[in-house]
Amino acid sequence: MLSTFWQVWVAVIVIGSIIGCGVLIQYTSRGQRKEETDQTTGHEYDGIQELDNPLPRWWVMMFWATIAFGFGYIGVYGLGNWNGLLTVEVDGEQVTWTSENQWKAEVQAFEKDVAPLFNKYAATPIPELVKNAEAMETGKRLFMSNCTICHQTDATGTKGFPNLTDNDWLYGGSPEQIVQTITHGRQGAMPAWGPVLGEQGVADMTAYVRSLSGLKHDEAGAERAAPQYQQLCMACHGADGSGSIYVGAPNLTDDVWLYGGSSKDIAFTLKNGRNGKMPAFGEIWDTNSAQKVHVVSAYIYSLSQK
Ligand code: HEC
Ligand code: HEC
Repeated sequence: MLSTFWQVWVAVIVIGSIIGCGVLIQYTSRGQRKEETDQTTGHEYDGIQELDNPLPRWWVMMFWATIAFGFGYIGVYGLGNWNGLLTVEVDGEQVTWTSENQWKAEVQAFEKDVAPLFNKYAATPIPELVKNAEAMETGKRLFMSNCTICHQTDATGTKGFPNLTDNDWLYGGSPEQIVQTITHGRQGAMPAWGPVLGEQGVADMTAYVRSLSGLKHDEAGAERAAPQYQQLCMACHGADGSGSIYVGAPNLTDDVWLYGGSSKDIAFTLKNGRNGKMPAFGEIWDTNSAQKVHVVSAYIYSLSQK
């Protein structure tokens, strides 16, 4: 919304300029001859003379036409805060035209068009749907425009953003679990252990974590940390380190790392904690959202079924 000052400013400049053009045309045609003659204006430039003729009639009419068009345009689309007469359909109602409403109307019209297709896909269970090449193309397009900023175009992820193609799941890889993840989002909550463990404690625990997946580690440190692991970490990562899909605690025994498996990365994770956040697309998509989640989930499911 424009403030009153800017509203007046815009209106005066726009309407004033249009009226000004009209006045200018009127004013300049007044002193003109009515007929074409071969008299010149008396101006001469390098032997080229200017005939003193009236502007061609069609030319002047074109000026008037643009002025009329200008007023018509304002009437249809409005000016500043004043809405024009044009309406578009948003949420089933006719509302005044604004560029935002037009965009909404177009998106809604499109969503309405594709709804039957999405409904058909949504009625097919995911394990079936993955065999439908067309549905997988649609799922891929949804993935490309909504998910690649975090999970990368090939869905293999990057540090902090899980690989979705490897059948190693934080929150479970069944169709239902994937749908749950994408609909409601996920929030990983790995507490910061720096204050609890201290510097040496973090180093020892890093050694223990690396020992779980058979990576090179400091034996003595790992031994020191083992009892502490059972005390502090077991609840989420399990006694054997295999993780838990209920809190999204990664499996620490498989040498697949969300935040890196080097001693430095693990120590950083332990000291500072981690809080990965997967957005809730059930809320982000406001039309056909359940159907879209279904199709993109099928696409994700298909990636790890090869
Ligand atoms: C803003 C970044 C971001 C976007 C966009 C995003 N994700 Fe995620 N996603 C994450 C993060 C971070 C996690 C891991 C959450 C955690 O650490 O607990 C995740 C986790 C997941 C998981 C669970 C993986 C597992 O191992 O259980 C799936 C499935 C998933 N995302 C699919 C998608 C799909 C499909 C889209 C697009 C519709 C998408 N994500 C868009 C950041 C994102
Ligand atoms: C409250 C549950 C909880 C507790 C307790 C917990 N963790 Fe975690 N941990 C998580 C979650 C959840 C993640 C994943 C964070 C994310 O997705 O952003 C994680 C991530 C990690 C990672 C990163 C794994 C990777 O793939 O990069 C390591 C290493 C880790 N935890 C080790 C530990 C250790 C060692 C302890 C005990 C000192 C511990 N955690 C205690 C929930 C927990």
